[in-house]
Formats: sequence, C-alpha cells, structure tokens
Amino acid sequence: MTRFLSKYHAGMAPYVPGEQPRDKKYVKLNTNENPYSPSPSVIAAISAAEVGRLNLYSDPDCTALNQAIAHTHGVNFEQVITGNGSDELLAFAYMAFCVGKKAIFPDISYGFYPVFARLFGVEYQEIPLKADFTVDPRDYYSAGGTIIIANPNAPTGIALTRAQIADIAAHNPNNLVVVDEAYVDFGGESALPLVGEYDNILVVRTFSKSRSLAGLRVGYAISTPEVIAELNMMKFSFNPYNVDRLAIVAGAASVLDKGYFEDRLELIKDTRKEFAKRLVEQGYEVLPTCANFVFAKHPLLCGKTLYLALKENGVLVRWFNKARISDYVRITIGTPEQMEQYFVAADAAERAAQ
Ligand SMILES: Cc1ncc(COP(=O)(O)O)c(C=O)c1O
Repeated sequence: MTRFLSKYHAGMAPYVPGEQPRDKKYVKLNTNENPYSPSPSVIAAISAAEVGRLNLYSDPDCTALNQAIAHTHGVNFEQVITGNGSDELLAFAYMAFCVGKKAIFPDISYGFYPVFARLFGVEYQEIPLKADFTVDPRDYYSAGGTIIIANPNAPTGIALTRAQIADIAAHNPNNLVVVDEAYVDFGGESALPLVGEYDNILVVRTFSKSRSLAGLRVGYAISTPEVIAELNMMKFSFNPYNVDRLAIVAGAASVLDKGYFEDRLELIKDTRKEFAKRLVEQGYEVLPTCANFVFAKHPLLCGKTLYLALKENGVLVRWFNKARISDYVRITIGTPEQMEQYFVAADAAERAAQ
C-alpha cells in the first residue's frame, strides 16, 4: 500500500473475475461467455467507416442503440440507459439508489454486489438463500433499503417467477427493486412487463451472455423515465461517453438481428438439457438452471478437487470457496463439443482421484 491510497480504500477486497488465462488453451467454461461468435451483422457494423470516425466522441445519448433496445422491448426511449457492461449500470444504481441507504441481496449471488457496497460506502445486508438455494420473497418484504436480485441467480441458475418479483415489489413500495437479468434470455421470466405496473422496478440486462458480446462491454437498464433520468444523472457526473462508437453500432446491429439471437439461444438451451441430463445420470447433483450454466456437485469429488483436476486436464470451470457452495462447481454451457471435452476431463479427474 502506498502512502497515497486513501484510508477509506485500505484493505478493500476487489471483485475477482473468472480466470482469463494465457498460459495455454483451455476449454473455457468458467465465465458464462457465449461459445458462439456474435451475429455477422455485428461484425459488419464495425465497419471501416465507423472505425474512421473514432477521432470523434461517441453519442452521449447512445441514440441508435437505445432506440433499438426500446423498440425491441416495446418501451419508450426515455426508459432505457446503456452502459459499459451491466456492471457499470449496477455501479450507477448503487451510486443513485444505495448511497446513504442500505443494499439488500441474497448471501449467495453475484460477487460484485458486496464489492460495490464497500466501494461506495453502502451498508448492506445479505439474506440467506433457503436450504434448496431458492429465494423466499417473504424475506424481502419491507426490506428497508434497495433490493438487488439476480434473476436467474448466479451462481445457482435458479430463477424467481415474475409473480414472485411482483410480490417483492408490491411489498416494497418505497424501495427500489433492482432485477439483474444477466441470464434471463436463457429461460427465466423477465420482470420487464412489470415496469409499466410498478414504479419501483429497475431491470438490468447485458449483451455479454445471450448476445455473444462480452468483449464489447454493453449492458442496459429499463425502468420508469424518472429512475432512468436519475441513472443518467450518475452517468453524466461520471463518464458521459460511457459507450464507445463501435459498441453503439455493433450493439444496435445485434439487437436488430433477432433470428441469429434466437437460433443461438435454442442451441445453448438444447446443449444445456443434454449436459444436465448426463451429469444427473453420472450421479451429480444439479440445481435446476434457467441460465447458460449449471451449478453441480460431483458424487465423489469435492468442488476444489474437481476444479483443480479439470484445469489440469484443460477445462476451466468456476469454483467458489464459500460456505454452503464449496462442493459445487459452476460450468458454463459451451458447444456440444466443449461439453464432451468436459466429460473427458472429468473422467481423467475421477481416475486420478482413485
Ligand atoms: C449476475 C451478473 N450480473 C452482471 C454481470 C456483469 O455483466 P457485464 O458487465 O459483462 O454486462 C454478470 C457477469 O458475469 C453477472 O453474472
């Protein structure tokens, strides 16, 4: 620690992203990326002409991208904000709706939630998931702060129904409910239809998973025009050009190519079904997932042993050294060939353990 670091930040534990190794080529099933390339129209949108305009700042209102998103979801332009990944929008939500209040989220969820709380000096409360790893909406009634729920949850993949989200919103008229729908396209029920009904729901989405654009860094949020205006207040006080020129055109192209998007989603859902079935046949415990990953417990090997042995055999999955879930690994759904490689590596792991 240098003598320059502010006292407030001393000892801070930042978010640790999943490994992005460069030492050898792994089958990467650890960060819930999409195994398929983005739509060809995305690649075409990043044209020489647009690259040639990089001398100019990007549109601070992200007009082309926000219009495409608004059109797709049948909401008004004023109800949409885009960010440099959904992480940035979550950070804006903490700044706008948590500072000086409390943030409330499940004890097992996206690891960034407590990190943002610490960064922005926000008091937070973690509510334990039930024994079966589900969220009980009643635990969030009259929560006394801003609620943040990943739906489907990560790393479990388990989703609340839309009615359950509505129940939480209805019991918190004076608290905002942030619904982080990073994985919703893979099978969850979106809370977007509730946005017209409740004024206390903010839905946050990402292009990183279902749209194969993790490297582009685009996320978006939808809520009432008033809530979005307050997020814009944060954005314009922090980084007005938060989405770059290439991300704006490429993101818009991705939204407009509905067919490509839906086809790839079906492929991943089919692969997930097959993969989960085979895991169960092999004795794994597999949580019911609505996401592009499964959270699974090997019948014999503990989570850490399995994770390390898979890595040794060229397959990366995610393991969390945390109470209640340390016997599980989170495995991203890749291509059918990649899932085959998972089983080859897992066989090797089992043999090594004998
Ligand atoms: C639940 C959840 N929310 C948000 C994000 C952030 O996504 P991005 O910043 O890539 O949009 C992730 C990424 O893994 C996630 O798992």
